[in-house]
Amino acid sequence: MENCRQVFVFALAWFCLPMLMARIPEEPAVPNQMVTTESTVIASTSATSELMYPPQNGPCFYATPEMCSDSLIHDPKYQVANCECRLHPVIPRSLICCNVTNLTNITSCQEPDSSEHWKNIHVRNASLEELDISNGFWKLFDSISITDGTLKRITREFTKFSATKCFNVSNNNLNEIQPRGFKNLMQLQVLDISYNNLSTIPNINKETNLTIDIRGNKDMLCKSVSETIDKGGLELNFVEPDKTYCLTNQTFNWFNSTDSVPLRQLYRMKQLQSECPTDCKCEVERMNYEQQNDEDGIPLLIFSAKVDCSNSHLTELPEKLPANTYSLNVSCNNITSLSALNVNPTYQQIIRLYADNNQISSLLDLEGTSFIEEFEVLSLRKNKLKSIPIYLLSNTLDKNPRGKMLYFEGNKLHCDCNSAKVLR
Ligand SMILES: *[C@@H]1O[C@H](CO)[C@@H](O)[C@H](O)[C@H]1NC(C)=O
Ligand SMILES: *[C@@H]1O[C@H](CO)[C@@H](O)[C@H](O)[C@H]1NC(C)=O
Ligand SMILES: *[C@@H]1O[C@H](CO)[C@@H](O)[C@H](O)[C@H]1NC(C)=O
Ligand SMILES: *[C@@H]1O[C@H](CO)[C@@H](O)[C@H](O)[C@H]1NC(C)=O
Ligand SMILES: *[C@@H]1O[C@H](CO)[C@@H](O)[C@H](O)[C@H]1NC(C)=O
Ligand SMILES: *[C@@H]1O[C@H](CO)[C@@H](O)[C@H](O)[C@H]1NC(C)=O
Ligand SMILES: *[C@@H]1O[C@H](CO)[C@@H](O)[C@H](O)[C@H]1NC(C)=O
Ligand SMILES: *[C@@H]1O[C@H](CO)[C@@H](O)[C@H](O)[C@H]1NC(C)=O
Ligand SMILES: *[C@@H]1O[C@H](CO)[C@@H](O)[C@H](O)[C@H]1NC(C)=O
Ligand SMILES: *[C@@H]1O[C@H](CO)[C@@H](O)[C@H](O)[C@H]1NC(C)=O
Ligand SMILES: *[C@@H]1O[C@H](CO)[C@@H](O)[C@H](O)[C@H]1NC(C)=O
Repeated sequence: MENCRQVFVFALAWFCLPMLMARIPEEPAVPNQMVTTESTVIASTSATSELMYPPQNGPCFYATPEMCSDSLIHDPKYQVANCECRLHPVIPRSLICCNVTNLTNITSCQEPDSSEHWKNIHVRNASLEELDISNGFWKLFDSISITDGTLKRITREFTKFSATKCFNVSNNNLNEIQPRGFKNLMQLQVLDISYNNLSTIPNINKETNLTIDIRGNKDMLCKSVSETIDKGGLELNFVEPDKTYCLTNQTFNWFNSTDSVPLRQLYRMKQLQSECPTDCKCEVERMNYEQQNDEDGIPLLIFSAKVDCSNSHLTELPEKLPANTYSLNVSCNNITSLSALNVNPTYQQIIRLYADNNQISSLLDLEGTSFIEEFEVLSLRKNKLKSIPIYLLSNTLDKNPRGKMLYFEGNKLHCDCNSAKVLR
């Protein structure tokens, strides 16, 4: 039994815990569905500017690039004391800040009326490297957008009871966000950290239902995405999962570190983990892009799974294997029968079966299976086999003797010369 090592529990833990799957929408939810009732017109403006400044819908307040150059924005009546920002001409209590170079010139903006807080802010094209998010100025905004600028770092944490529902820092140079920076955003509905230089997703409050956009971060690690997905209670909707890629990482056990995987595939791989039989370890063995595309025109990524249920005190083969299982190791158990290969549809794709150190006494169950036609490896060392039905193997070995490996040592075979010849 020298091959039957003790099972290392820690090695199984990650792979075999049933995963809580976060929801992935077929059509990514666009976060602009709710019409905010407060979005009433306060300034009597021309038809043109109403076109240019449409009322807000959804939690995110957004100023287009054109708004920064529109003459209206330079009109003194939209100026605010101590402030480099301008009032939005249509949406109340909302600031548009363009080409800002000094944060102090934003955080000093005085509320027009102390009974009312600012509601929305969009800072466009800020030439700033660092944003200290713990400044109390930010905590009262429903929507904060600081986009299309040069931000590199978000430091500190949002203060407790921050009201923010939408936080958009898309299209900066961010490569650092304080991991706990967004922990206090209990109200967060939309988080847009797309088109930056981030490799991890900051921690998000576990209770929230969140639309998250992480596109365009070429160093984003699948490990971080995966951990974010796994956090119980968090309902995540990724924007455009087919156009969002993450980097896998050799030590993360899937692929070589340079492989970039679309999120939808990440979900499929996580599906593999969720289908993994108890006490087994399931891994992606290989993946290939197929010639054909899926329904959305994205090349299909096909992977083959490798399932290791060795040393698991099994007395029969696992009831259900993950889709695309090509290789199964059930060595060092007390399995008596191979009939699953005959009757269980989830065993249809197996071509490598390692079942050393078991109690298997017959190969007859393999008769008529696709396994016996297609197999590459059949390893049944140290079992209870008494004979090897030659007719079973000779057909397939005659047809295609190459690349088929059979291992039967350690069985008390009644050897006859015929079988010896065939099996040589
Ligand atoms: C199958 O499992 C046994 C026991 O853990 C191990 O010794 C063996 O190397 C495995 N075989 C393969 C091909 O991984
Ligand atoms: C911001 O800079 C752009 C380009 O230089 C300019 O057209 C625009 O008027 C500026 N906007 C403000 C509000 O300063
Ligand atoms: C951004 O702001 C800088 C000044 O800080 C200005 O030179 C540049 O033209 C602005 N870019 C746009 C697209 O407004
Ligand atoms: C930013 O503006 C504030 C107030 O006007 C000033 O005290 C500070 O020195 C400025 N910082 C930089 C880096 O220019
Ligand atoms: C920031 O505000 C100070 C005064 O508060 C002003 O002198 C300075 O020009 C402002 N910075 C910019 C880039 O407008
Ligand atoms: C965030 O800002 C980017 C860049 O301006 C914009 O393209 C995107 O639509 C905004 N995201 C949301 C959710 O409003
Ligand atoms: C992205 O971040 C890495 C370090 O994390 C840095 O080396 C690289 O220059 C950054 N790229 C850009 C485009 O800012
Ligand atoms: C989460 O948000 C999505 C889209 O906004 C919505 O369809 C879903 O019902 C929400 N789930 C919960 C639990 O609120
Ligand atoms: C891969 O993941 C491991 C484990 O989390 C981590 O320590 C390592 O830094 C990652 N490697 C790369 C190249 O990201
Ligand atoms: C990883 O890279 C090595 C060499 O670059 C290659 O032989 C191996 O097949 C790759 N593994 C996967 C799973 O793609
Ligand atoms: C197989 O069954 C025997 C007898 O019940 C037991 O002693 C042995 O530990 C079992 N082996 C494995 C690998 O589960």
